[in-house]
Amino acid sequence: MSKTFKAIEFDSYGGPEVLKLKTLPLPTPGAGEVLVKVRFAGVNPIDWKLRSGAYQAFMPVTFPGKPGIDVSGTIEAVGPGVTDWKKGQAVFGVARGSYAQYALARASDLAAKPDKVPFDVAASLPVGALTAWQLVEEADVKAGQRVLVQGAAGGVGLFALQFAKLRVAHVAGSSSTANVEFVKHLGADEALDYSQGPLPVKDLDVVIDTVGGAVFEGSYALLKKGGVLVSPAGQPNAEKAQAQGVTAKYVSRGATSFLATIGELVADRKVVTEIQKIFPLKDAAQAHALSQGGHGRGRILIRV
Ligand SMILES: NC(=O)c1ccc[n+]([C@@H]2O[C@H](COP(=O)([O-])OP(=O)(O)OC[C@H]3O[C@@H](n4cnc5c(N)ncnc54)[C@H](OP(=O)(O)O)[C@@H]3O)[C@@H](O)[C@H]2O)c1
Repeated sequence: MSKTFKAIEFDSYGGPEVLKLKTLPLPTPGAGEVLVKVRFAGVNPIDWKLRSGAYQAFMPVTFPGKPGIDVSGTIEAVGPGVTDWKKGQAVFGVARGSYAQYALARASDLAAKPDKVPFDVAASLPVGALTAWQLVEEADVKAGQRVLVQGAAGGVGLFALQFAKLRVAHVAGSSSTANVEFVKHLGADEALDYSQGPLPVKDLDVVIDTVGGAVFEGSYALLKKGGVLVSPAGQPNAEKAQAQGVTAKYVSRGATSFLATIGELVADRKVVTEIQKIFPLKDAAQAHALSQGGHGRGRILIRV
């Protein structure tokens, strides 16, 4: 094994251009950790929000910043106390600094990659599907309920729509015109084009917002009294929720212990994913620029 490896890092906040390809000494996994030989990394909006400094007030970066959370690859080495993984096993999950040839992960943050799930598909799952899982769970989506997923074509939204359908809800999904057919393909009962004006839905039981901003703010009024608004992208306003007679919750990514179940759902084709575009490691800056555009279909990946 080479004693060095290539990784993307950034030494200051800034635009995509601060991402640099560096050659670094290979780390040794500590207690409870494994070293993953990375095949693909997923590009999540939080990666560029951390890089830009947008989150520095509440989630400051310790420099050098090491972008990337989603990972797929194989176990290269295990640290002390790790008994559930061995060298060569194919895995996917969460590993900080995954835009790299190798990344350290907590052993418990990985799941075995099902044979039927290719490495690229596996890297598109962790953050998006775990967040969607938690959104549907905290909204307590039930059979027969009328649910709207805002941003249904995105890396979180596409899973939220499908997980709500698995609970036999009636699900509408909002997207741009370009993604309407894709949202139908995901199984939406209604695919709503937000460019056509206000969405033609009201008195909903649940809105799962994955867009934030004005879309999140506009979602309160689409609910019936007693309805639930959940979002990983918008901060709820208790007074506004009370005035509308609804519950609004901020929801974070679910526990990595759900990764195995998500992998099985994808292997069994009960849930599908979508890869927007794959960039080579050296072009991580281009991947960030595309993600920052805020529009697209599914997850952007980095091939290592
Ligand atoms: N708190 C957490 O733990 C957590 C975890 C994961 C994600 N997040 C946050 O959740 C948000 C979504 O993440 P993501 O990975 O899904 O992002 P993404 O893959 O970039 O998807 C964003 C989607 O938003 C859609 N969109 C943009 N404007 C819209 C509008 N007006 N109405 C409906 N859809 C619209 C886009 O679709 P079109 O191309 O069709 O416009 C795009 O598919 C981000 O802000 C991210 O930071 C938070």
